[in-house]
Amino acid sequence: MSPAGPQKRILLVIGGGIAAYKALELIRRLRERDIFVRVVMTGAAERFITKLSAESLAGSAVYSDLFALTNDQTMGHIELSRDADLIVAAPATADLLAKMAHGLAGDLASTLLLATDKKILLAPAMNVRMWLHPSTQRNVSLLQEDGVLFVGPEEGEMACGEYGPGRMSEPAAIITAIEQALEGETRIALPQGPRSPPARLLASRRVIVTSGPTHEPIDPVRFIANRSSGRQGHAIAAAAAAAGAEVVLISGPVALADPDGVTAIHVETARDMLKEVEAALPADIFIGVAAVADWRVAEPASVKLKRAPGQNLSLTLVQNPDILACVGKRGRGRPALVAGFAAESARLIENAEEKLAQKGCDVIVANDIAGGVFGATSNQAVILTKEGKEFLPRMSKQDLAKRLIALLAAMLAGKEQ
Ligand code: CTP
Repeated sequence: MSPAGPQKRILLVIGGGIAAYKALELIRRLRERDIFVRVVMTGAAERFITKLSAESLAGSAVYSDLFALTNDQTMGHIELSRDADLIVAAPATADLLAKMAHGLAGDLASTLLLATDKKILLAPAMNVRMWLHPSTQRNVSLLQEDGVLFVGPEEGEMACGEYGPGRMSEPAAIITAIEQALEGETRIALPQGPRSPPARLLASRRVIVTSGPTHEPIDPVRFIANRSSGRQGHAIAAAAAAAGAEVVLISGPVALADPDGVTAIHVETARDMLKEVEAALPADIFIGVAAVADWRVAEPASVKLKRAPGQNLSLTLVQNPDILACVGKRGRGRPALVAGFAAESARLIENAEEKLAQKGCDVIVANDIAGGVFGATSNQAVILTKEGKEFLPRMSKQDLAKRLIALLAAMLAGKEQ
């Protein structure tokens, strides 16, 4: 955040939850960045932290009462929201999400969230069952369609002792999301939420999907592999088929059944996968989801390697072809849309942007692997295109698949207009 230019102003709504204490840390960090913070607390938030703590850290009055215009708090809900560059709700409770999604305005927090035309960023925090409940997920989809931004929730141990998605993002992650929102992040509009499967959107289109890991032999019994389960790739192939596409799924070894309605081709190595992808082209869309092994053993042994006492084994690894880049950078015969994934453990957005450019892709789905993606049933991703990016909340791999397919179908239709 540049200290030059007008001081940025955040309206921070603190909802009622155990994560409210992290909102105090958030205020402190925002103030350190010379961002002005005005705080609104819900009645429930006041049961977790005191107004006085928030007031002392923010250095300005804290608001909580919708009808308090007669005392020294002279700003009404309209002025409160008008005064801000960005409205942040942290923790955003299930109750707050439900109120926002349905336009309820019974207290100061929900009223000002309704009375604003400013960007809103939510940092949800709630029990895992509440987060995963269909009503909450429905509300999240509605809010996303309205253009509301989300950061988190994260998966982990919760204050209530359960494990799963629902924990509020750490203040550092919320700050990053705030900075991105303040910098006028261009958002790509994802056309359809998980509630509405994109029926027949890809009728008469051909889609190739790679999925799963690859196995690179060391000798006839041993191989190099990785933790990919194939769940995300298979879900994408299934979503494309449900959208009416003719789908070729080229998968490394996985413990999953072939999805209905797709032509499945089973391979072991990266080189075999590339061969099958090339044989399956041309296509309208290519989606590289496989966790292709980057290296293979230069000279796999043709007989089982025997272990001699005290002797180490050194393997020489050579690079495998980059299947996604091979497809993305094709001249003639390049699919109209090429999408890939980026599994990152650091610099998520920067690395994903690099992959978008270097591999000649139209879309990259970026995963922070620290969030536990491999083998999990849910996924938290950022979808990047050349036009912008969309931060998605944690959702099932099926829902992410539907989102991606809906986006690709809309992009394809847009290209042909
Ligand atoms: N990919 C591919 N062929 C490879 C390596 C990766 O097709 N040999 C594709 C993957 O299917 C994914 C994307 O490239 O869509 C990114 O994969 P990822 O493992 O995140 O990145 P790498 O390119 O392997 O780079 P690094 O491991 O250095 O991050």
